[in-house]
Parts: sequence; C-alpha cells; structure tokens
Amino acid sequence: MAGQAVVIGAGGGIGAALAEALEAQGRAVLRLGRGATPALDLLDEGSIAAAAAHAASRGAPALVIDATGFLHGAGFMPEKSWRELDAAHLAHAFALNAIGPALLMKHFLPLLPRTGTPVFATLSARVGSIADNRLGGWYAYRASKAALNQLVRTAAIELRRRAPNAVCIALHPGTVDTPLSAPFARTGLEVRPPAEAAADLLRVIAGLTPADSGTFLDHKAAPIPW
Ligand SMILES: NC(=O)c1ccc[n+]([C@@H]2O[C@H](COP(=O)([O-])OP(=O)(O)OC[C@H]3O[C@@H](n4cnc5c(N)ncnc54)[C@H](OP(=O)(O)O)[C@@H]3O)[C@@H](O)[C@H]2O)c1
Repeated sequence: MAGQAVVIGAGGGIGAALAEALEAQGRAVLRLGRGATPALDLLDEGSIAAAAAHAASRGAPALVIDATGFLHGAGFMPEKSWRELDAAHLAHAFALNAIGPALLMKHFLPLLPRTGTPVFATLSARVGSIADNRLGGWYAYRASKAALNQLVRTAAIELRRRAPNAVCIALHPGTVDTPLSAPFARTGLEVRPPAEAAADLLRVIAGLTPADSGTFLDHKAAPIPW
C-alpha cells in the first residue's frame, strides 16, 4: 500500500510505534495529536477539522490510523464495581473513546482516495466486546469501546456505498506495554512491546480487503465477536 499515512495519537505508546514502523517502510507519515501542529484534540471538533484539512492538503491519505484512547487518568481509574460508577468518568470515556473517534471518521473518511484499498483503522479493545465480557468491571472503558465498535460498523456501511474499495475497521492491538496499560500489567499477562504490536497491526492492515470493512479484528487478524 503506497501513499500518505496519517497516525492520529502519534504521541502515544502504540501510535508512536506505528508512525516509526510506517516510516521505516518508507511511507510518508503525518503524525497528528495534541502535541502536533496543527494540534488535534478529540474534545475540540474544530481542531479535528483543521487537522483533516491539513492532511488533505498533502494528498489523499491511503491509510489513517486512530491510535488515541483513554483508560485511566484525569482522576479516574477503571471501575471494579457498580458502586464506583461516576457520571463524569463515563462522560469522559465516551468523549475520548467513542465521540472523538466518531468525529475523526466524519472528517477523515471523506479524504480516503477512490483508488486502491484505502484503510481507516481505529484502535478499539477486546474488552469492548459484549460477547467476550466474562470478567465484568471497567464499565466506562468497556461501554465506550462497545460504542466505538458500533460507530465503526455504522460508518463502514455508509462508506461502502460511497467508496466500495475502502475499509473502515476496529482493531485490537493486544496487551501492549504503554502508559495506558502500565497500572494493570500483571505477571503472566502477555504484555508486548509497542514496536511488536505496531508490526502486528501493520501486517493485519496490509492484508485487509474491502470485505473486512466493518469488522473487529485482533492483532493476529482473528475476528473478535461484537
Ligand atoms: N496498551 C494496551 O494494552 C491496549 C490494549 C487494548 C487496546 N488499546 C488501545 O490502543 C489505543 C492506544 O493506546 P496506547 O496503549 O498507545 O495508550 P497511550 O500510550 O496512553 O496513548 C493514548 C493516546 O491517546 C491520545 N489522546 C488522549 N486524549 C486525547 C485527546 N483529548 N485528544 C487527542 N488525543 C488524545 C494521547 O495523546 P497525547 O500523546 O497528546 O497524550 C495518546 O496519543 C487506545 O485506543 C487503547 O484503548 C491499548
């Protein structure tokens, strides 16, 4: 796959590794995020629109990866019980994990070229799978990622009508050693380095076909039940 690649959340653990891996493949990479110029903040649609316009000015991106996400921070930790449910925490998780990526789809999906098999991939999480939820807990993260998955599926249906060759997909990166996972790393849990996760994700992306649009795949290209 040739052409410009855009990595949103390029300052994050997996986002930075993705940008580096793409550059190592010789791809032109536009790194977007709060620390980039122009700055892209998921909580500010104007900044998303401006960043998309900037990306478009460099040519249609054949690949857009959204590597943003929120699990803990801003005074919030994943809930262990319904007793910890908090409206502000839920709203923050939905703003960053579902509404922000939805606005990314609004502004970046129209930029995908009509030729080839362009890809918009957003990093979801296996714990967002309703069918796979056996442990409970992590209400805000699980529910906001489930909402993200539904938004991806819905956008993929619209995208197929407009650009039948394009792919809009949710990907699970596996458990990766980043600030997001750091407080939860336990012995026995398979925590992989970001570079390995990035290589896996790019392998999955390289193998995508239009038939994969609207699906939810893990880092080994195995489908995850919704
Ligand atoms: N690590 C794992 O084990 C794991 C497992 C499953 C799924 N995931 C998913 O993979 C994705 C990447 O996670 P990661 O592990 O790389 O986490 P990370 O290192 O914490 O990176 C999170 C990214 O989200 C960005 N972000 C947060 N708030 C933002 C905002 N308001 N506007 C724009 N960007 C914002 C951060 O930008 P700044 O650099 O500006 O802070 C950063 O680039 C997430 O969607 C996560 O849910 C990760």
